[in-house]
Amino acid sequence: MYIQDLSKFEGQVVVLKGWVANRRDSKGLVFINLRDGSGMCQCVADEQKISAEAFANAGKLSLESAAEISGTVVKDDRQIGGYEIQITDLKVIQFAEEYPIAKKEHGIDFLMDKRHLWLRSQRQWAIMRVRNTIIFSIHQFFQKEGFVQMDAPIFTGNACEGTTNLFETDFYGDPAYLSQSGQLYGEAMAMAFGKIYTFGPTFRAEKSKTRRHLSEFWMIEPEVAFMDIHQNMDLIEGFLQYVIKAVLDNCQNELKVIGRDTAVLESSLHKFPRLTYDEAVAIIKGEKDVNGQNSIKSLEAALQEVEATIAAHTKEIEEREAKIAVPGMKKGEINFNQTKIAALKNELKDLEEQQRNIPQWIQSAKNFEYGNDFGGSDETVITRLYNSPIMVYDWPHAVKAFYLKRNPEDERFARGVDVLAPEGYGEIVGGGERETDEQKLRDKIIEHELPMEAFEWYLDLRKYGSVPHAGFGLGLERLVTWLCQLKHVRESIPFPRMYGRLLP
Ligand code: 4AD
Ligand code: MG
Repeated sequence: MYIQDLSKFEGQVVVLKGWVANRRDSKGLVFINLRDGSGMCQCVADEQKISAEAFANAGKLSLESAAEISGTVVKDDRQIGGYEIQITDLKVIQFAEEYPIAKKEHGIDFLMDKRHLWLRSQRQWAIMRVRNTIIFSIHQFFQKEGFVQMDAPIFTGNACEGTTNLFETDFYGDPAYLSQSGQLYGEAMAMAFGKIYTFGPTFRAEKSKTRRHLSEFWMIEPEVAFMDIHQNMDLIEGFLQYVIKAVLDNCQNELKVIGRDTAVLESSLHKFPRLTYDEAVAIIKGEKDVNGQNSIKSLEAALQEVEATIAAHTKEIEEREAKIAVPGMKKGEINFNQTKIAALKNELKDLEEQQRNIPQWIQSAKNFEYGNDFGGSDETVITRLYNSPIMVYDWPHAVKAFYLKRNPEDERFARGVDVLAPEGYGEIVGGGERETDEQKLRDKIIEHELPMEAFEWYLDLRKYGSVPHAGFGLGLERLVTWLCQLKHVRESIPFPRMYGRLLP
């Protein structure tokens, strides 16, 4: 019996097993917020209606104590989940020790140290359930499209995405790398099975702390024989929209808990704009407008707005603090003002961060050097102008991976595509059409100073029935982060691994 199924048992007595998320006592009554993993519900113990022992125990339940609660299911629209339990019996499974995560605000480092417990909180619960829906819908999409799910190895003998962020391990005395991407194996599997996808952990040593980088993350990598760059973009768009729709259809409650405004997700169900690198650069530099919006001018306007809001917030905080300082204010009113002040200060932190960031974005947009890859700020500058993901394709070949095919009409460009998510999130997908010519690949491998021996098996694919093919890689955590509108990728995975974080 789980809380998520309560609606089927209205009026009946059920037995729930769970943990105490909150307890409130009033005269003759104890209110327990019970969570059981599937949901949360209020359970009411009435002194008149249960044994003295059960009532006494109810009143002693500390946060995160475990209990078995029997009671009648009563419809109550004011309650989370829409139902309440009127307790008929209560058995304590364990009285918990004092729980370290209190209701007051904790710093992020503390919460990350307590990640094994923090996962129990309602917001984390909601995020992980969205993640689950995303994973399930990814499999649904590819399975219904006839793809075969296959697994690439994690120990690898060659780099796929450059050598700067490899994790090296010892493989029976030989060096081996933890996989950065299953793609090269995906290509071999696509030549055997036509349409495949891999879905596995990938590893990149990113020795810096950013909002977007994990050292261990999960990647979905479809690879399709006889597919070109444009069909690849069709596939990416259909795929991402399927997943976004699944989240909108199945996770309304979770999105509400997270506080996610879903307007951008809805507008992402329309076609994603497709821009060449050249077009994207012109937009970033402010040489070309998007729907009447200019990147630089809109950033300058945003900065002014941020500064005005900072001034207004600062003034309001001062006023409220002055009011509290005057003796005689009622306790309730003091509390009310203090809560407001805390909320304003919280918003100020974000605003001040924007105040620091926007001038940097303006500078890097103005100074963007044609031919470079996009950095995080370039991605932010361009995606701010859209209300759906955009796809940027045909990149200068020098800045992209060795395996990408050149545009036959203009050899300066490689047929890579990046999907950039709106609202400042940036790259969530990288992919492209693959080089089919053995000699061109050999030249690139030499140019990138990669060890040829390790790629001989890969080059075999170009000797025996080499065909046009393409694919992409979606970073699962980047997608979860965007869909849940998280500030940092670390909250998108149960136990993040990143620079400086190996425990818990
Ligand atoms: O753009 P990337 O490096 O592309 C590849 O690895 C290709 N081999 C994929 C393919 O075509 N089969 O990585 C793909 C995606 C990125 O767009 C991003 O979403 C995610 O993987 N990603 C990371 N996510 C979290 N932390 C990191 N350090 C990431 N690095 C890449
Ligand atoms: Mg990339």
